[in-house]
Amino acid sequence: MSRVICPGSFDPVTVGHIDIISRASKMFDEVIVAVLVNVSKKPSFSIAERMNFLRKVTASLENVEVVGFDGLLADYAKQCKATAIVKGLRAVSDFEYEFQMSLTNKKLNPDLETIFLTTSSEYMYLSSSIVKQIAQFGGDITPFVAPCIKDEIVERLCKNRNII
Ligand code: PNS
Repeated sequence: MSRVICPGSFDPVTVGHIDIISRASKMFDEVIVAVLVNVSKKPSFSIAERMNFLRKVTASLENVEVVGFDGLLADYAKQCKATAIVKGLRAVSDFEYEFQMSLTNKKLNPDLETIFLTTSSEYMYLSSSIVKQIAQFGGDITPFVAPCIKDEIVERLCKNRNII
C-alpha cells in the first residue's frame, strides 16, 4: 500500500495544486494533503479555512484525505507512515528551495523520499499569492480556483482589505 503526503501552505488552494493532488491520487493508493505552517509566509486564511477549501475541492477524490499539522513535515510523515512527499515544481525558481527542503526532510527522516511532479504548463505561473492579489483588487479569479470555493475566497479577501 503506497501512502504519500502532498504538503503545502495552500493559502488558498489553486487549480495548480488541485492538478498535482489529482495526478498524485492516480499514482498512489492514499494521498494525505497536509496543511502545514511555512514560517516564512504570513497566511491570509486560518488552517481550518484552508482545510475546509481543500476538503471541498478534493471531495470527488476517494483516496485523498486532508489534515492540518503544526510541526515538522518529516515527523508527520513518520507518524502517518507515509513513504514519500509529493510536490509540484513550477519552474527553476522553485527548485533550489524545494531541493533544500527535500534534503532536510531526508536528513530528519531517512526513510522519506521526495517526488517532484512537473506542473502542467497552463499552471506554471500560478501561485496562491497571485490569486490573493487579484481577488483583493477586485479582479476575476475564476480561472485560478475551483468554482465551489471562489465566492468564499473573494468575500473573505475583499472584507479584510486594508483601507488606506
Ligand atoms: O506551499 P509551501 O509554502 O511551499 O509549503 C511549504 C511547507 C509548508 C510544506 C514547508 O514550509 C513545511 O514543510 N513546513 C512544516 C515545517 C517543516 O517541516 N519545515 C521544513 C524543515 S525546516
